[in-house]
Amino acid sequence: MEEIDATNLPKHIAITMDGNGRWAKSKGKLRIFGHKNGVKAVRDTVEGAAEIGIKYLTLYAFSSENWNRPEKEVNALMTLLVSAINKETKTLMDNNIRLSTIGDINKLPSKAQKELQEAISKTKDNTRMTLVLALSYSGRGEILIAVKNIIKDGKEPEEINEATFQQYLTTKSVPDPELLIRTSGEYRISNFLLWQIAYSELYFTDTLWPDFRKADLYKAILNYQTRERRFGKTTEQLQK
Ligand code: IPE
Ligand code: IPE
Ligand code: MG
Repeated sequence: MEEIDATNLPKHIAITMDGNGRWAKSKGKLRIFGHKNGVKAVRDTVEGAAEIGIKYLTLYAFSSENWNRPEKEVNALMTLLVSAINKETKTLMDNNIRLSTIGDINKLPSKAQKELQEAISKTKDNTRMTLVLALSYSGRGEILIAVKNIIKDGKEPEEINEATFQQYLTTKSVPDPELLIRTSGEYRISNFLLWQIAYSELYFTDTLWPDFRKADLYKAILNYQTRERRFGKTTEQLQK
């Protein structure tokens, strides 16, 4: 933590929390045991991010594609979501963290929707960090909804540019993530924040999500701080 340059922090970090199933399997347990232990990693990472001064943390918790998993696993994940939100609202309040969501929340069981709504309204005035949970989320789905709403609003082609398009995304009030982390040694995007990660720095680690802790987050931030973000320019231009 001491090694991190506080003047060069990403404002927004996004994390694809992957590897719960393999973590459980390696211990001879059922997949859901991995998901349960993933909650601890969420708590520690959220705290760690707030402590170091990250303003936005987006966690990919459940993708639109994850609905295709066995019904038993989906149900267990939804039950876990309800209990985790319920238990962790206190952690959010203690750490002055505001909760929000992206994704097709209406698809979630009503109990989960209600629990989320409560936590969102309870934490709405918190200011230290915004925690965005991506639930039943897909990047392509989000872009399609944006296109449909642009058409519904009767926009003319010349009114549409990157800035106006961005206003139609569910992340409109959140800056693009400077850093995207994925755990578990998978090197793919899996339909996460497709528009928003156009220029994100990508960081992959073999650590399985239930083992991820704030020290791992800080390691990723330190690595981010070694990167030269050129945005199409040359090194020489940046040094001027
Ligand atoms: C991530 O872990 C959690 C969710 C996608 C909900 P996985 O369940 O994908 O774990 P692996 O990838 O099978 O190990
Ligand atoms: C991506 O993980 C979604 C979440 C972490 C919520 P998956 O484990 O579902 O991704 P794929 O299907 O292996 O790419
Ligand atoms: Mg996975």
